Amino acid sequence: MSGRENFGSRAAVIMAMAGSAIGLGNIWRFPFIVGQYGGAAFILVYILCCFLLSLPILFSESVIGRRTHKNTFGAMEALAPRSSWKWLGLLTVVSPIIILSYYSVVGGWSIEYLFKSVTIQFRPDNAEIVTGMFGEFAASRAKVIACLLLFLGMTAGIVFAGVKKGIERFSKITIPVLFVLVLVIAVYSLTLPGAGEGIRYLVRPDFSKLTPDALAAALGQSFFSLSLGVGTMLTYSSYVSKDENLMASGVGTAVSDLMFAIFAGFAIMPAVFASGIAPAAGPGLVFETLPYIFAKMGTGGLVLSAAVAIIFFITILVAALTSSISMMEVGVAYLSEEKGISRTAATAGIFIFAFMVGILCVLRGSVFDFLDKLCSNFLLTLGALLFSLFVGWKMKKEDVKDELTNGGTLHTNVKLFPIIYFLIKYVAPVSIAVIFISGLVG
Ligand code: TRP
Repeated sequence: MSGRENFGSRAAVIMAMAGSAIGLGNIWRFPFIVGQYGGAAFILVYILCCFLLSLPILFSESVIGRRTHKNTFGAMEALAPRSSWKWLGLLTVVSPIIILSYYSVVGGWSIEYLFKSVTIQFRPDNAEIVTGMFGEFAASRAKVIACLLLFLGMTAGIVFAGVKKGIERFSKITIPVLFVLVLVIAVYSLTLPGAGEGIRYLVRPDFSKLTPDALAAALGQSFFSLSLGVGTMLTYSSYVSKDENLMASGVGTAVSDLMFAIFAGFAIMPAVFASGIAPAAGPGLVFETLPYIFAKMGTGGLVLSAAVAIIFFITILVAALTSSISMMEVGVAYLSEEKGISRTAATAGIFIFAFMVGILCVLRGSVFDFLDKLCSNFLLTLGALLFSLFVGWKMKKEDVKDELTNGGTLHTNVKLFPIIYFLIKYVAPVSIAVIFISGLVG
């Protein structure tokens, strides 16, 4: 294991993991589904989901990663030599690379939109055509592919620089900045006339909307948002040193991710309602609705509205980058440790592969949608289920305890361990299976 790097401190671990977690999921999906499924009532269910189901999965991945200090495949081989569990190791090498491919397309869009904001293309005099700009941009394939290339290039640049000098340093600088930026936008957004309706959309509890669908949405969103089930957190945990407290860094990560999602809700929804537009999720929200709002805001001062737009698209771009580097690192760790390829060549290889698949996604919208559905509805949940089964049923209980309590030296963790173990072994797998199957049937 010589030459393997570790993150430098507790703060570094949390920043890197929170960086992976905080991303497009928090910004363009969370605020919307909160309103769709009953406001505060849904937030409550979401928080329960996070702490009772997602956190145990995060702990499971952390246990496997730090116990072995290896990439996903190597880790499964080390803990369950020559068993079928190696397929889980392989699956979780491949799926983050697939996610990287289409996620980077969106990352590329945000580069173009940052450019549009800097050059003040969202103005009151052209507000009516601003929403159409996205369709126009998407139709110019060469431009979209160039942006994809740029985004993947930045991702590869950071990963290439290494775990400490690249990933750790980038996340440590940018994550606190992201929090400041999202709060700046939230404060501004909350002061807009008509913002009250947006606040009501987010917080008014409506328990009648808590259908089984809402549960499945909460679970899926919380897995995607915490980057679970595809070995990302496993790989990051493999860079955590033996004296770090895995439960503390896991809770820190989950709380940061949750807070960011809620702040993003307050940054976006009040502005959306203030402008009298129906809320949406996905590309429509970020690349059509919001630019329209920025354009309209221009009547109150072009400089202010341009500044808000620039801050917003920087936030999106950086949040996407801290996530995409975590996806790329999974494959880089695998190739360099299992196949003896240099870190440079491994990074270049994944860069090229993701670029090709990304181009396919640009050329064929159906490929994009298929890969997204395959990963976020299926592979993620399957991986999360298998990780909890592996730690709960295949690994020895003493080993899991040893890892989560640092050999019994962390007293709070020792006290909490029976509860956490019960969640990992029974509650998480059973609930995931039930929600997953009811989702497939329903
Ligand atoms: N969590 C990130 C977001 O919310 C995306 C992400 C990063 C991810 N790594 C992942 C999603 C691994 C699934 C699996 O945008």
